[in-house]
Amino acid sequence: MAESDAQATKPAAAGAGGETDSPQSRQGQGARRASWKPGNPLVLVTKNFLLRSVPPEKVGPWYVGWLQDPELMAFLNMEPRKDDTPEKALERMRRYVARADNRTNFHLGVFPKDRAQQIGFFSVDMDFRNGTAQTRVVIGEKDYWGKHVVRETRAAIIEFVFRTTNFVKVWGMTSSRNVPSVYNYKAQGFQNEGVMRQHIRTVDGDRIDVILFGLMRDEWTKRKEQGL
Ligand SMILES: CC(C)(COP(=O)(O)OP(=O)(O)OC[C@H]1O[C@@H](n2cnc3c(N)ncnc32)[C@H](O)[C@@H]1OP(=O)(O)O)[C@@H](O)C(=O)NCCC(=O)NCCS
Repeated sequence: MAESDAQATKPAAAGAGGETDSPQSRQGQGARRASWKPGNPLVLVTKNFLLRSVPPEKVGPWYVGWLQDPELMAFLNMEPRKDDTPEKALERMRRYVARADNRTNFHLGVFPKDRAQQIGFFSVDMDFRNGTAQTRVVIGEKDYWGKHVVRETRAAIIEFVFRTTNFVKVWGMTSSRNVPSVYNYKAQGFQNEGVMRQHIRTVDGDRIDVILFGLMRDEWTKRKEQGL
């Protein structure tokens, strides 16, 4: 068994393995873990959404629409690529998604429970050497902005990481101008772990900061105990 397999299946010190019955899970904040083994697709369930591994062949034209949306891409500090045909854009996205092995990297589609349509995705990178997981999120369907999708679904990922592994931290980063993203990290208990000053150039040519956010296992546990 590879080291990552062994560690991935190693139960977390506290409360590993079982279904959570905390107030958070009843409110859809916690992950209800389907039976998952390293390398198998992952499904997580929250109150209103399903998160599930999307294989490259299931990446559809809706991804292209998202990548060509200037407002969405501005949050990511990118411009839609003008040289891309829809076919090329789809192919590029499928290559990106193909790196997810459901072991050290997950590409999880976000699906409302009441609609078949995918509305966004998370990418989760598991660093087994250091016991940390990085998440990135895009909610592509703008009808779903402002509906707490990110916090509800990321809670399920955080819960999955801490329950399934002995990892110590979940982290992410965002540009200082991405107000919704900064807001979401803070509202979910992530701490500002540092600022990379003038780290990126915006599409307008300004230089702006990137903020690192981290949430330690014990901080997450404490929040749950407090019913946050
Ligand atoms: C960033 C993104 C994921 C946020 O989606 P979202 O959570 O639905 O965003 P919201 O509009 O609900 O904003 C989140 C929170 O920030 C608050 N907020 C947003 N803009 C704000 C502003 N200008 N001033 C004050 N608060 C603001 C909202 O009120 C909301 O708070 P609430 O949940 O308590 O109501 C989504 O915009 C997206 O997919 N963007 C493109 C990709 C991206 O930027 N990913 C993150 C990169 S790290």
